[in-house]
Amino acid sequence: MWFSRTALLCLQRTAVTLNITGSLTSNIKKKMSTLPRVYVSRQIPPGGLEILRESGQVQFELWDSDDVPVPREELLQKVKGVDGLLCVLTEKIDAELLDAAGPNLKVLSTMSVGFDHLSLEELKKRGIRVGYTPDVLTDAVAELTVALLLTTSRRLIEATHEAKTGGWGTWRTLWLCGYELANSTVGILGLGRIGVAIAERLAPFKVKKFIYTDMAPRPELASIIKAEYVSLDDLAKQSDFLAVCCALTPETKEICNKNLFSKMKNTSILINTSRGGVVNQEDLYEALSTGQIAAAGLDVTVPEPLPTSHPLFTLKNCVILPHIASASYTTRNAMSALAVNNLLLGLRGEPMMKELKL
Ligand code: DGY
Repeated sequence: MWFSRTALLCLQRTAVTLNITGSLTSNIKKKMSTLPRVYVSRQIPPGGLEILRESGQVQFELWDSDDVPVPREELLQKVKGVDGLLCVLTEKIDAELLDAAGPNLKVLSTMSVGFDHLSLEELKKRGIRVGYTPDVLTDAVAELTVALLLTTSRRLIEATHEAKTGGWGTWRTLWLCGYELANSTVGILGLGRIGVAIAERLAPFKVKKFIYTDMAPRPELASIIKAEYVSLDDLAKQSDFLAVCCALTPETKEICNKNLFSKMKNTSILINTSRGGVVNQEDLYEALSTGQIAAAGLDVTVPEPLPTSHPLFTLKNCVILPHIASASYTTRNAMSALAVNNLLLGLRGEPMMKELKL
């Protein structure tokens, strides 16, 4: 059902006060039907949903589930003729979908910082404005990255398993030993807000040196964490911990591959909280199972969910999480609110809070 609660309540109240019936009801309907139409492809957190409901600015319909994504066929039907679309990262926004939506579509708002699910070229061609949700998730993602790094380096999943299943015998001198951050070199692949936030959190662990690589040096960000710009090769060679923080683009697709792993130390640890596509998983399996690198912690994989039969799940030195880096209540509500505000501002023809320059 298409609705805008505030607009409806307001118009109904007017009708009751004036004791008007019949023709006014049809006027109400007429007025409602002139509001921009929006489709929301997921049941989004209340932080944003309430703003949308209360705005009185749009009539919207949403896929009312958070457990199952909207089926593609349903999405293609629902977007027909909409003025705005709010989506999450599970929806592929490509030429097929934009054609199905048609020329009314003016604003796309994604509740994510990543935008590899969007065909930017197709959006640009059609003059569709795009909102996304950077910044509000930086703290949550950085926290989770540190948690995953420590879980992987200090072998916490193996350790709890041993404790629970009877593997805990006498105290042993080298049993479940891992690698510590003190005096280590931490490498950041793709230095942005999140990379900086990770380094800020790791510094108190007495990291000796931060290094990074990117398309070009980023002196302003690097100076915050005193990080040195190095080549990708040097990043691989020097890092004891390598945190992947780059966006998935044609340039970064599978950039973590056989070649990179072959240059890493056999004591080093790879952590990926960006996008699964940045890592070649077959090469990673090889590197982990042959001891070419010590361990990996992944919050993102290809595909998602990663089938439980995937070989990476058989490895003790690979910790896999189900894409939860931004999953705190505060952050998900903030992402939801920002996505809705971007959408509403875009529909009003105003600058969005966070808009992608196409
Ligand atoms: C994003 O926003 O792109 C994250 O991967 C999920 O929060």
